[in-house]
Amino acid sequence: MESLRERVLQRRSEPKNSVHLDPARTPRHVAIIMDGNGRWAQRRWLPRAAGHRAGVAVLTPILETAGEAGVKAVTLYAFSTENWVRPEEEVHTLMELFLQTAKGKVPELHERGARLRFLGRRERLPEPVCEAIQHAEELTKNNDKLDVYVALNYGGRSEIVDATRRMISDGLSPEEVDETTFARYLYAPEAPEVDLVIRTSGELRVSNFLLWQIAYAEFYVTDTLWPDFSSEEFLRAIEWFGSRSRRWGGV
Ligand code: IPE
Ligand code: IPE
Ligand code: MG
Repeated sequence: MESLRERVLQRRSEPKNSVHLDPARTPRHVAIIMDGNGRWAQRRWLPRAAGHRAGVAVLTPILETAGEAGVKAVTLYAFSTENWVRPEEEVHTLMELFLQTAKGKVPELHERGARLRFLGRRERLPEPVCEAIQHAEELTKNNDKLDVYVALNYGGRSEIVDATRRMISDGLSPEEVDETTFARYLYAPEAPEVDLVIRTSGELRVSNFLLWQIAYAEFYVTDTLWPDFSSEEFLRAIEWFGSRSRRWGGV
């Protein structure tokens, strides 16, 4: 089967729907707010759980495309520290789905050379979920094709609070705390700078995602609901990123 890159390159020679990928202008780290599962289900008169299941099905093609497009790291917002306020039944469904997904997708991702890491507080997560996280991180720790960070029970504010607590418990003096030191205390200090944030379902807000890391990220917001998000649109986002003029405060 022809690879996606080949298909991408092929499309280059076609005048319509062409996608141009310039490796020098490809984001190294893409962070995705996978939003809109509930609305996707509602529009079909289906229970919200069906939307979450449909959302999981999109993961493999998007991660595959990311790898082939030359992206080095992807962060997926799967469950926020605020999502606990949802009805108990939905939270339970999401945790169950997470376990099923881990079972089904972790071996597949491992085979493809992805390294999995989980961002967020482990406390409050059900024990089997913590075990699945540990297993996935351990199994994939030596892989180097693509880093996949899953933000689960994640909040940007809790990450900053947790970093601060750890700096204090390590006995750092105020003079030692600067931006470089602070960044070393985040959940994934080794991750490259977040270049691009994608948010599906049209909401123009950050919803407590990677508050520190997105300081200079570009934002691609699409009305497409997460279960309808395609490799094609992912590539369009990458291409759009390549057209941005990033000034980092300069002129
Ligand atoms: C995103 O979809 C998935 C999670 C937050 C877990 P939503 O469930 O937020 O879908 P909408 O926003 O209600 O459509
Ligand atoms: C953000 O979506 C969290 C995830 C995608 C996991 P939400 O649906 O929770 O965000 P709000 O409530 O619309 O801000
Ligand atoms: Mg939502």
